Amino acid sequence: METAMNRVEPNLSREERRKRQKEFWRARYEEDPAFFGERESDFAAWCAPLLRAERNIRDIVELGCGYARDARFLAAQGFRVSGVDLTGVRDPSSTTSGRAGPPCEFVEADALEFLQRSPPRSVDAVYSNMLFNMDYTEEEHRELFAAIHRVLRDRGLHLYSARSTSDPWYGRGAKVDADTFDPAPHGVTMHYFSAEYADRLAEGLFAPVQRVERSEGEGDFPIRLLYVVDRRA
Ligand SMILES: C[S@@+](CC[C@H](N)C(=O)[O-])C[C@H]1O[C@@H](n2cnc3c(N)ncnc32)[C@H](O)[C@@H]1O
Repeated sequence: METAMNRVEPNLSREERRKRQKEFWRARYEEDPAFFGERESDFAAWCAPLLRAERNIRDIVELGCGYARDARFLAAQGFRVSGVDLTGVRDPSSTTSGRAGPPCEFVEADALEFLQRSPPRSVDAVYSNMLFNMDYTEEEHRELFAAIHRVLRDRGLHLYSARSTSDPWYGRGAKVDADTFDPAPHGVTMHYFSAEYADRLAEGLFAPVQRVERSEGEGDFPIRLLYVVDRRA
């Protein structure tokens, strides 16, 4: 049976794990301010027509927005976007090639803390690309999903991508929990998603709209992502 006791570093508190995340990503973005490339993610491009088709979506919160490549892309599509990231976007104009674009609001914060202090039913869609793979336990995912449910208006959308259990990197590193591996020193703890896990997290909160698996990346970094769209029940 998988329990929190299986974690390689059982003594690290939630705060210490967040600090580790923050240091890891800050170092990545300092090395390369456009670490994932200049363009929007494939997932953001996939979501755009779906968001437009909803017709009543205006306010979007992006969790774990990094250097805001997707937040800017979604703002350019006409949505009002707030981006939240642990590392913060310190100089938004210097990212994504310094391209000017419609304004986004950026907040340096932990995603859960940001959601918990946001007004209830205040957002039309919550979006994230590859955030939920970060060092989150199932219990923490459940807290996040409950907080997302709270800020979404009725029938609002929750759209996210997560590295899937069929990702070629699945299983690399020390197993620390169910579908969770720590590849240190070559990365940070990763929690991989199956469609069943996405369904389980949505249970009682969201009605599943879509689950799609996609291969992305090239050369020596091919990855496989689960794209998930849920609707606030
Ligand atoms: C894999 S990167 C993806 C970045 C961005 N979504 C993109 O596609 O360019 C994960 C991001 O999540 C952020 N992150 C990790 N844990 C977080 C947390 N607890 N709250 C907010 N952001 C977090 C990291 O700082 C990092 O920017």
